[in-house]
Amino acid sequence: MAQKNLRKEQRNCWHVLVEDSVHFVAEGTLWKQYWEQVFCPSTLHLPRIEIQLPIIPRIHPPRPEWYEEFYALALDKTMISYEAEIAGYKSQLFSNLRGKADKILEIGVGTGPNLKYYANDPGIHVFGIDPNSKMKKYAVAAAEAAGLPPSNFKFMQAVAEALPLNDASVDAVVGTLVLCSVKDVDLTLQEVRRVLKPGGFYVFVEHVAAKDGTILRFVQGVLDPLQQTVADGCHLTRNTGNCIAKAGFLDLDINQVVLSTASLVNPHVYGIAHK
Ligand SMILES: C[S@@+](CC[C@H](N)C(=O)[O-])C[C@H]1O[C@@H](n2cnc3c(N)ncnc32)[C@H](O)[C@@H]1O
Repeated sequence: MAQKNLRKEQRNCWHVLVEDSVHFVAEGTLWKQYWEQVFCPSTLHLPRIEIQLPIIPRIHPPRPEWYEEFYALALDKTMISYEAEIAGYKSQLFSNLRGKADKILEIGVGTGPNLKYYANDPGIHVFGIDPNSKMKKYAVAAAEAAGLPPSNFKFMQAVAEALPLNDASVDAVVGTLVLCSVKDVDLTLQEVRRVLKPGGFYVFVEHVAAKDGTILRFVQGVLDPLQQTVADGCHLTRNTGNCIAKAGFLDLDINQVVLSTASLVNPHVYGIAHK
């Protein structure tokens, strides 16, 4: 079923396919009542029915609340030295947006460590999406600290594979350390291209798999399942740089760096691409 162009309330509904039509059934609807609407007792016709979960739990199954809270707190507290090391790269990268992007979407915004680089212009409107609602308080605080008026920052609980924004509606999309965690990298990149205006920017910093045949790559392979469990679905072995290169962006500028504070979570690719 196409994910795009669904209204927000439809995204939060169960999707029920009855024959060839899609019904959006809000949570809390009595299934008995619903069944009476689609089943026609006079003809005894039994329609072909397929039921799908609402989008967010389908793509990002719910985690226990304590886990989401703990992961948000851990990100907030443990990334300080990493952020200090990557700061120079980020400053340079985000300077490309200055004066050129008013509406910015950040996918997997997390605790909002990037907002200070691009959101300090009061004319900017930022949408930060993340499936973990516990990130909201940190992201809102980071937006405020960056000088963004509260009305100009909107946190939305959503997944990058089904962005709750219209086609060609933002000037830039930002994503850092998120393609390691999404369920579907290619679908996410398609969504990024869909919501970008023509000529819009995609700015990224991602950790990727080490080179095949290296000791680091071997260790990443061994620890990948553990990493996914402790770091909310983060994969160590994705070749995300290749996915970005093949996603159909124009003028792709992609660079690679190894960061001493990231140990096994290396190397990183960072850069900018245009739609
Ligand atoms: C390693 S954290 C990075 C957060 C932030 N971008 C940063 O640089 O610190 C990965 C983030 O991706 C979010 N995430 C996981 N699955 C996602 C999905 N399908 N769509 C969007 N964000 C997702 C997580 O909740 C988490 O906030």
